[in-house]
Amino acid sequence: MIQRPRGTADILPAEAAKYRYIEQKAREIAALYGFSEIRFPTFESTELFFRGVGDGTDIVQKEMYTFADKEGRSLTLRPEGTASLARAVVENGLYGGNMPLKYYYVINCFRYEVPQSGRSREFTQFGMELYGAPLPAADVSVISAAYRIAEALRIKATVNLNSIGCRNCRPVYLAKLREYYEARRDRLCDTCRERLGVNAMRLLDCKEPECRALAAEAPKISDCLCDECKAHFSATVRGLERAGIRYRIDPNTVRGLDYYTKTVFELIADDGSGAAAVLGGGGRYDGMIGELGGPELGGIGFAVGLSRLALAMPDGEAKEEKPALYVAPMGERAAEEAAVICEKLRSLGIACETDLVGRSLKAQMKYADKSGFGYTAVIGDSELDSGKCVLRSMADGCETETAISDIPDTLVKLLAAE
Ligand code: HAM
Repeated sequence: MIQRPRGTADILPAEAAKYRYIEQKAREIAALYGFSEIRFPTFESTELFFRGVGDGTDIVQKEMYTFADKEGRSLTLRPEGTASLARAVVENGLYGGNMPLKYYYVINCFRYEVPQSGRSREFTQFGMELYGAPLPAADVSVISAAYRIAEALRIKATVNLNSIGCRNCRPVYLAKLREYYEARRDRLCDTCRERLGVNAMRLLDCKEPECRALAAEAPKISDCLCDECKAHFSATVRGLERAGIRYRIDPNTVRGLDYYTKTVFELIADDGSGAAAVLGGGGRYDGMIGELGGPELGGIGFAVGLSRLALAMPDGEAKEEKPALYVAPMGERAAEEAAVICEKLRSLGIACETDLVGRSLKAQMKYADKSGFGYTAVIGDSELDSGKCVLRSMADGCETETAISDIPDTLVKLLAAE
């Protein structure tokens, strides 16, 4: 038997309903903040991620699904959305008109990672990006939107917040940090020793016990921020405080992508553990649009992972709407009429089904019960002759007589009274 590739998932109907619910809530939040949906390609020129995400990142170095097409062009399945969207903004000249730009997206992403709970090789992100909004209020509104998505799904979460400075103050900090770690090189894990020359800040979020102990004592970026970054960060913190967002300032939140400047944050599930607890992450990236050939237009955004939100959501939160009516025909003539009745009901927006298998009445009732129909109606010759039938509640067995032509009105009344 051919099996699905490692790290991918078949999302079966019950789980798919959860995803749909999450997506719908996230879309509602995005609309409340004035963001519009944007869609972009699943694969891009590999070069985009080298320049946009950064060639020093794990994503670009180890995790991309890169292939040559039939013309020999190097293409990559998107590992995330921020670089693609920045490309789309530049390519479509979206920055000419009404600023700031506010977009959201729901995309499948691909990363060659070691699969574990909350970490797969294909996953779905919901992301929001805001361009041309330099004020700390922009940081506050984007962080709030991420937090409100968790809140709408009744997930208790906290924002881990940090500033990683700008191109003026970060080099000073990086030099200090490198010096600190170089002096303790022999205590570092292999990965950190490797990373030290590439991106010393990533050492701060290593999960190895010895590296964690070193990170706790390492120089703090907050001591090196320039005046502008300091003011930006404290205004952001003040804004979050006033918005009632639960946050904690965490000097070791540095993010795994190269493009961030100033504010970075992660949304952490209070009850979660490991990778799955990190529901989402984001931050400001003021250089990317310029790097991709556009104007110097700052950006800030975040993405949350749908599978992680689904894991963190309380059970029963995403209730699937039950189908309203099962029409059980008795006999051939009734079966033909039942199909017509169902078509008419559907045209009025009522979800209904009839027999497609040729089952006995008893077996049809069993099917209707298992499938969670709210009501059943048995239609035989006498019902067709009288033009009347009985709607039977599957919950309590209550029966309501109705003209067949009045089924929609009667059902609406019954459902409203529940
Ligand atoms: P990221 O932290 O790499 O950031 O991913 C964001 C979220 O996507 C994660 O917090 C997680 O929920 C989900 N995610 C990432 N990798 C996986 C995986 N292998 N399996 C399941 N879920 C995963 C970004 O991608 C940035 N583009 C976010 C951003 C937007 N920054 C600014 N704007």
